[in-house]
Amino acid sequence: MERNDGGMRGADQSSAPAQQATGEVENFWDQRYAEMESLWSGQPNGTLIHEVEGLEPGRVLDVGCGEGADALWLAERGWDVTALDVSRVALDRAAREAGARGLRVQWLHSGLLEAALPAGSFDLVSAQYPALLRTPEDLAEHALLDAVAPGGLLLAVHHPLPTAAEAEARGLNLDEYVGLADIRALLDGNWRIEVDEIRPRHVAAGAGAHHTEDVVLKARRLR
Ligand SMILES: C[S@@+](CC[C@H](N)C(=O)[O-])C[C@H]1O[C@@H](n2cnc3c(N)ncnc32)[C@H](O)[C@@H]1O
Repeated sequence: MERNDGGMRGADQSSAPAQQATGEVENFWDQRYAEMESLWSGQPNGTLIHEVEGLEPGRVLDVGCGEGADALWLAERGWDVTALDVSRVALDRAAREAGARGLRVQWLHSGLLEAALPAGSFDLVSAQYPALLRTPEDLAEHALLDAVAPGGLLLAVHHPLPTAAEAEARGLNLDEYVGLADIRALLDGNWRIEVDEIRPRHVAAGAGAHHTEDVVLKARRLR
């Protein structure tokens, strides 16, 4: 398997304009969700299942949880789930489904940077195609890493970067979003990279179904 420098461009390659205030990001995503009854497949992400299935359940943070399929899958397996998203529309959908299935998740309506998460408090931080905007200070990357407890895991999954021509055709600015390379660059001696590769992805439904590969970074915080 290949090493990668995948970046996040939204699971259907849509793009929020760069350097927006959180309110604008929220509006962007609320509108995207409101366009459809369900935007994504409703199924948990394959790479999450693959990486997490055998783990002892603990405290997990799902960053950019969307309609909640991953959070609910984790809750079903005994994880203590905090699921965060900037979109109220998505979270309402996720909470409705949780109610219907009798599952408990702590839904957090917030941008990642505004959430003031307790440092080092999650055994697993999962960020599946999270579409986080870059900042000069690498704030989103630090927020992800800081949330992981010593001994815990960060699992970040993105889509492969489009080519420059594809990006231009879709009106994307490749520099807008946090990529896995940005996160990897901050992994110092306190971290051990356990997975750093591109894998096949199979999703049959939803706005992200055309993506056939996952770019995966899994790192353990050693101390
Ligand atoms: C491409 S979707 C992925 C959703 C979900 N993880 C999945 O795999 O189906 C990206 C999600 O990140 C959320 N998001 C974008 N920017 C965010 C931010 N700064 N803080 C929290 N959530 C954010 C969006 O609302 C959206 O639900």
